[in-house]
Amino acid sequence: MNISSFLAWISVILLGLTMLLWLIRIATDKKWFKEGSKLYEFHEKMKKPHEMLGALLVITALVHGILSSAKILSFNWGTASFVAIILLGISRAFLKDENVEKWRIPHRILGIISVAFLIAHLIIIF
Ligand code: HEM
Repeated sequence: MNISSFLAWISVILLGLTMLLWLIRIATDKKWFKEGSKLYEFHEKMKKPHEMLGALLVITALVHGILSSAKILSFNWGTASFVAIILLGISRAFLKDENVEKWRIPHRILGIISVAFLIAHLIIIF
């Protein structure tokens, strides 16, 4: 396996784990648990790893794209997926405690689009 393929699969795992941590956060939503309870704390603890995995994903996906046989600046589903991931990161940068309600939806929609484009990328390759 070459470095590009290795980083490609790492990117898939990172995207999967980021989504998994988000699902755990949904399941342990702060609204439903008392402050200080175990699940409330778990919800809080999943926030940083979710952000860090997302940031790492941008790097591994970029290096994979650069090393792949396709031009990164061309239309292909890999680049489309990467652009969606970048926009996902940008939408996160706008997400602050005071405007969570406004930016949560674009962040979620971009998450779904990133996964959908990645699936298209994988279907076309295999
Ligand atoms: C940055 C833009 C991207 C480009 C230009 C790109 C391009 C490519 C190309 C051309 C291949 C076929 C192997 C090759 O010819 O090198 C490939 C494979 C693959 N890509 Fe991407 N890709 C990009 C982004 C992504 C992203 C964001 C992910 C995952 C989150 C991803 C996951 C994969 C996987 C899993 C494979 C199969 C690897 C293998 O088994 O060899 N790619 N990509």
